[in-house]
Order: sequence, then C-alpha cells, then structure tokens
Amino acid sequence: MISDKPWWSESVIYQIYPRSFFDSNGDGEGDLPGVTSHLEHVQALGADAIWLSPFYTSPNKDGGYDVADPRDVDPRFGNLEDARAMIVRAHQLGLRVLVDVVPNHFSDQHPWFKDAISAKPGSPERDRFHFYDAKPDGTPPNNWISLFGGPAWTQIKTADGSSQYYLHLFDSSQPDLNWENKDLASDFEETLRFWLDLGVDGFRIDVAHGLAKENILVDHHDPQGLSDALRLDAQMSAEKRGELLASVPFFDRDGVHAVYRNWRKVFDSYNRDIMAVAEAWVHPPVRAMRYVRSDELQQVFNFDLLVAPFVATYLFKCISDTLEMLSEVDAPATWALSNHDTPRVASRHGANASRALALFVMALPGSCYIYNGQELGLPDAELADSVRQDPSFFRTKGVQKGRDGARVPMPWSGDKTPFGFSSGSPWLPIPNEWSEFSVDAQHADSASTLNLYRSALKIRKNNLVGAGEIEWVDRGETGLLSFARGEFAVYLNTSSAALEIPTVGTLALGSNFEITLLNGVLTLPAASAAWVAIR
Ligand code: GLC
Ligand code: CA
Repeated sequence: MISDKPWWSESVIYQIYPRSFFDSNGDGEGDLPGVTSHLEHVQALGADAIWLSPFYTSPNKDGGYDVADPRDVDPRFGNLEDARAMIVRAHQLGLRVLVDVVPNHFSDQHPWFKDAISAKPGSPERDRFHFYDAKPDGTPPNNWISLFGGPAWTQIKTADGSSQYYLHLFDSSQPDLNWENKDLASDFEETLRFWLDLGVDGFRIDVAHGLAKENILVDHHDPQGLSDALRLDAQMSAEKRGELLASVPFFDRDGVHAVYRNWRKVFDSYNRDIMAVAEAWVHPPVRAMRYVRSDELQQVFNFDLLVAPFVATYLFKCISDTLEMLSEVDAPATWALSNHDTPRVASRHGANASRALALFVMALPGSCYIYNGQELGLPDAELADSVRQDPSFFRTKGVQKGRDGARVPMPWSGDKTPFGFSSGSPWLPIPNEWSEFSVDAQHADSASTLNLYRSALKIRKNNLVGAGEIEWVDRGETGLLSFARGEFAVYLNTSSAALEIPTVGTLALGSNFEITLLNGVLTLPAASAAWVAIR
C-alpha cells in the first residue's frame, strides 16, 4: 500500500540503548561499531528507523543523559567516524536514524558548568544555569525535589568563600540549563545542525517539557505531599503521577514552545524530511498536543500504554482518547510499550498478555516504538543491588530499585551468558536462563516472540500502513476490544477466560497457537490477540 504521508507518520521506530545492544571490542559495553554490525537484525524485524539513546561524551552518571560534549562521541562508544559509519550503514539498509538531544541539563563535566563554578555569582557563566543564593536560614532557594529523589538543589562553595545552590531536576551531576540565557538557543542549534550535517534524520528530545521554569523563588505548594512520592520509574499510579505533573512549576510551562518553534525552523531549513519526537510527560494528556502543533514538532510520546493495566476498558479509553485528540492537530499517534526508563512490558503483564498487547498495538494507525529486546519478549532482569548503576537507586537510598533491570544487554546467541553480546564481561550481568530469549534461538522457532513481531510488521507494512482510521467494534465491556481497519479485523481479549467470537474471514496472525478460527467462530484464549483478514 503506498501512502503519501511523510515517512514518520506510520513508522516503526526501534530504540537502541547503545550500551546494551552489541559490544564490538570485548570491554563489556555495547558501542557504535556494535550497533553498525547488528543493524541487519533491525532491518529483518521490519523497522523503518532507529532511535539511539545518547552516545555522547559523558561521565555516564545517568546512562549518558548527562552530556559533557553534545557534539562528540564518548570513547566507550567509539568516535565520530564510527557514528558516521553507523548512519551510512543504517541508510543503506533503508533505516532512518534518530538521535537523542538532551536540552534540559548538561553534565557537571561540561565546560560551561566548570566555567560557571569558577566564575562569580551573578556572572554570565552562572547565568547559563540556575544558580541562586540560599534562603536566609541556609536552606535551598525552594522546596523542589529531584525526580531521582532528594532535593533538586546542591550547594557549591567557591575559592573566594561564597556559596550558591544550583538546580538539578535529576542527579546532582546534571545541572539544569537556563533557557532564558541567550547562549542556549545558539548552542543547541549548533548541536542539531552538527548531527543533521552528519546525516541523521531527526531527534528524540529528552525531558522536552522541562526547559522553561517559572517562579523559581517560590516554594511548590504541595498539600498532598505528592512530590515526595514522585519517581521516574513509574511506581506511582498513572492518576497520581498526572495529578502531580499538573501542578509542578517546572514542567510543561508555555515558554518551552518557543524553543521548538525555532528548532522546527532549523529542521525545515534542510531539504529533507527531518522529524523530532518529544519526551513530554504532561497532564492532562491533551496538553501533549501543544508539542505537535503545525509549527512545532512532528511527534510527542504517548506514555499511557507504558503505565496502563491490561484491562480492555482502560486500554480502549487510552487509545481512543489519544486518536481523537491527535486528529485535531493532525499529528500521528505514537505507541510505546517499553523504553529504557520503565519496567519492560513482559514484566508488567507477563509473556502472553505482552505479546497480545503488542500485536494489537501494531495494527493501530500512527507510529510504533519498539525498545531493543522487546521483540525478544525480554523481561526485566533480577539484579543484585551491588551491580546497580541507576542514580535513582542511590538517591532514594535503595527505596527505588531504579531502571537497570530494563537495561540489561541483549542476548544474541549460544546457550551461556553473555550470549554473544560481548567477548568480555557485560556491564550488567545477563541472567543464565536467557538462552531461550536469544535472537538465534528465536529465529529458529516459528512460535517465538521475535517471529510474531516480524510477521506482524510485515503485514503491517504491506496491508495496514495507509489503511486509515480504525472503526471500533467492541469497546472492552466483556474484556474484548476489537476494531476494523483496512482489510483486517483486530481483536484483543484481556479477560481471564477464552472468548468465542462470530467472525467472517481468515486468521492472518495470532499472538499464540491456541487461537483458532473455525466455522465462523474465532476462539481467543485468555490474554491473546488476533488479526483476521476480512476482505
Ligand atoms: C529522560 C530519560 C532518562 C533520563 C532523564 C534525565 O527521562 O529518558 O533516561 O534519566 O531524562 O535526562
Ligand atoms: Ca565496547
């Protein structure tokens, strides 16, 4: 089916966490040559594009989201030539390339922050960050908390004996940038152009809703104490998180949009189809639509499915609300079931339900994000506290286990850890029991999760992309969700009992092998999904 929409409107975008994808030199950490050498896996899966989490120069206090030089490659990942080679290879394989841009903060090892530390209070160097004096009683300028736990302020003392606090919404090694300072816009434009000139096709914008801060000298009034409970790894219920995000004075301020209008001009100045997707956890969800207005970005992540329970009525509301809101701004939906910040879908819902949900979602209009390892059905790994690296584990003093479980390297082959990922010792241990999850093992097994994803993405590309809107049929009341789209009827059973559904057509794909369509009756076991060809 040929579509006249831009490439990103129904693309499948595969997220690569470079440190965990493939290690080419045996130091136990994935790297860019490792990505390049394994892009065929992504092509064979049927993705249209890759998005790489940061590989820039970084002390790696927050998995590279603490950037010390946004226009260079960290030696642990290789060098700029490796980045260029990776982009060239991806393009040869027909894959577009998105890279992360991290505009809310730099690393404390970025030259700007080092300059700011050695400069005086009130200096232009300090103005690029949020430096403030303590309150008269010596406490931080306000009561904001870090999303990784603890206060959002750290005090520094300088040689002349003066001291100030700086703001960091994340780790203390990630000082927030002051976007009211005029150096910011030009420096980030340089970064965007740097990567576009190297050949990338777009960006994923980290903490896109965080750039503008308001009322820094006013305490956040938080009568319910919600902010103490706020954690990045989604332990909090979606409702509670939403309530909190609706009230914090440091997210989703109107001022962020001017930044993206300028970035859009940069993208449009290139004679090719550049796109950017915003990471914006906002509430209520309709606020997200502001990021994809016609003169801003192309996509904004929808995080509802990352926290949704496996309940048909809930899923119906979240999917139908999203599609309805987006139709008003003419932007494509984005569907993500896993990423490097949340527990993996297979751990949230179990093997069957996660396969069923993925199959259902891959039939929806819009763009699908797949986090590396999701196509293998990987669960989160159980890890000993002694190997954890996530700053949220340390800042919450272990109360939150953090996100490392979802970041364990990919198993590729063989029956012993580290399953072909590295010839050395992987930076996080890969569980011994993961041989059944390896790419090689699943390639050979027609019932594997990998082959389910491959088949689904093939049918999607040939028959669903460009097929237009969905028509809902079952809205979840009996645990059944279904819709018609193009030549297919798509079903999801979230209940704990099998359902028998009168259906005309032939079974094109099912999330497991117990699904049958015989004599006009589709039998869908508990926690399963099917695509039926109806025309
Ligand atoms: C985003 C990233 C996350 C990182 C945080 C701070 O949420 O996805 O991994 O820790 O921003 O940069
Ligand atoms: Ca390596």
